[in-house]
Amino acid sequence: MFALYLYSLPTHKDTVTGPVATTDSQKGGIGSPTGNGKMLYQDNCASCHSIIKDLTGPALGGVEDRIKDKKLLYAWIRNSQAVLKTGNPYFKDLVKKYDNVIMTSFPDLSDGEIAAILDYIKGHSRETTIYVCGLPD
Ligand code: HEC
Repeated sequence: MFALYLYSLPTHKDTVTGPVATTDSQKGGIGSPTGNGKMLYQDNCASCHSIIKDLTGPALGGVEDRIKDKKLLYAWIRNSQAVLKTGNPYFKDLVKKYDNVIMTSFPDLSDGEIAAILDYIKGHSRETTIYVCGLPD
């Protein structure tokens, strides 16, 4: 039941494309339906994360394949410290790998907003090869 609820999330974001569409195309976006996710990603995550290369934090491309438990993934984004306190071995190792940098908490992001961000990431993960082949950022 919970899983069903989560899986239904990405479809909702289709309804939030309108108001941000212009900004999106002005920035040279590819007209992805997740403009909202793009803005949220750029405002909150892009300072530390790229989709295709490791920065302060790991490249986020394909992250939903690495962390298949959506509940865990959403919990991490909202409050990484709380997830670490549970002793989760995947994240414990990850933090060690990233010099114990503490990821910002985003307790105010709704499920829909996180879904939009993840959708934006997913949409752009597929372009990895194009970017790597030499298009500028
Ligand atoms: C202050 C820098 C910073 C910001 C801002 C930030 N992160 Fe992170 N993130 C990290 C670091 C560093 C890690 C690696 C684990 C650690 O050290 O906490 C990480 C790990 C992650 C992971 C796990 C990645 C993997 O490969 O398993 C996800 C998912 C993630 N961040 C999503 C987000 C999202 C979504 C946002 C924006 C809402 C965001 N992060 C904002 C620094 C940041």
